[in-house]
Amino acid sequence: MWLSSSSVGRKFVMACSGAFLVLFVTFHCLMNSVAICWPAAYNSICEFLGANWYALIASVILAAFIIVHIIYACILTMQNRQARGSQRYAISKRPAGVEWTSQNMFVLGVVILAFLVVHLIQFWARMQLQEIRGCEEALPPAAGTLFLQEAFQLVWTPIVYIIGFIALWLHMNHGFWSMFQSVGWDSTVWIPRLKKIAVCWSSIVVLLFIAQAIVFTVKAHQGYYKTDPALRDQYKEMVAAMKEKDFGPDAAQVLTQIKSMPYEVLSQQLPQAVEQMKMQKNMPGFDQQLEANPDMARQFNMNYEIFNSFATLFEYLDGNNSQTEVEVVEAVAPEMSNTNN
Ligand code: HEM
Repeated sequence: MWLSSSSVGRKFVMACSGAFLVLFVTFHCLMNSVAICWPAAYNSICEFLGANWYALIASVILAAFIIVHIIYACILTMQNRQARGSQRYAISKRPAGVEWTSQNMFVLGVVILAFLVVHLIQFWARMQLQEIRGCEEALPPAAGTLFLQEAFQLVWTPIVYIIGFIALWLHMNHGFWSMFQSVGWDSTVWIPRLKKIAVCWSSIVVLLFIAQAIVFTVKAHQGYYKTDPALRDQYKEMVAAMKEKDFGPDAAQVLTQIKSMPYEVLSQQLPQAVEQMKMQKNMPGFDQQLEANPDMARQFNMNYEIFNSFATLFEYLDGNNSQTEVEVVEAVAPEMSNTNN
């Protein structure tokens, strides 16, 4: 096939996949900017994108473009090295007119890929992937600002991100205009213009990313995403929506009650209620009582799981609980889920 067998075809694929990735990165940086001005609106966008079919299709297409871009980058780099043969080692000086970036696009791509792996572990794996797998962490997967808190409170995160952004600027700056050249737009008038557009475009995108990383780091260190009252209410609503999905109309009454109570009251009372239910469960004869009364057992287990989810979130937000993984829920509820089955 022409796209894979000819050198022009391969460059064309690189240009098209690169153009798509430039558009994605631009959209992504604009979307992140919402988190600076309206963190609650950012969470609503994350909730809307979540693991719905349209977001999943977009993610699969994006992943396909990233993979194609990487595979073709490897092929083209190997081809170039073979073509240059031993000269690659003999010539240490760059030929006149060849920019440093054009010779180091592969290395820059590797740096961006390394950043991306860290980034996806910090965000995508804890958000969309959690929703797909249906195994919930203590934090609601749509609460983007809580994952900003988790990521940017770490000292090394802004350092890794700034390195990634610098590599992205260099890579995008060169890739932007050279993709036009690859598809045949090689005019002597337009290439200098495209180079200027490339500098402006990639600088705006990367400066926005840097501004975001700075704001998120400062706010995460202030604990803003955990303590802001409007965000706390939003997290509460998100957990309520998750539990409504899990238990359906059976949970309507208890969730309505929880939603109507102020955060301060709930964050005091629910952990106590969970403790009391745990003690109740350990009381002699209680298990048999539940076994004899399936309706009571179902209600008890449902309430326990709901209270526990809220209590774990509140403990995390109030700073009493640094352990946010699903083990927190599982550590106290394994028998509960067994009784449920
Ligand atoms: C301050 C900088 C950034 C922040 C705060 C940020 C935030 C996020 C968040 C919250 C998600 C998860 C969305 C979800 O799963 O619902 C995400 C996904 C992603 N990010 Fe970033 N991002 C940043 C920079 C970047 C950069 C520079 C790149 C590319 C070089 C990038 C590439 C991606 C990709 C590929 C995904 C997966 C998207 C998907 O599956 O649909 N991000 N990012």
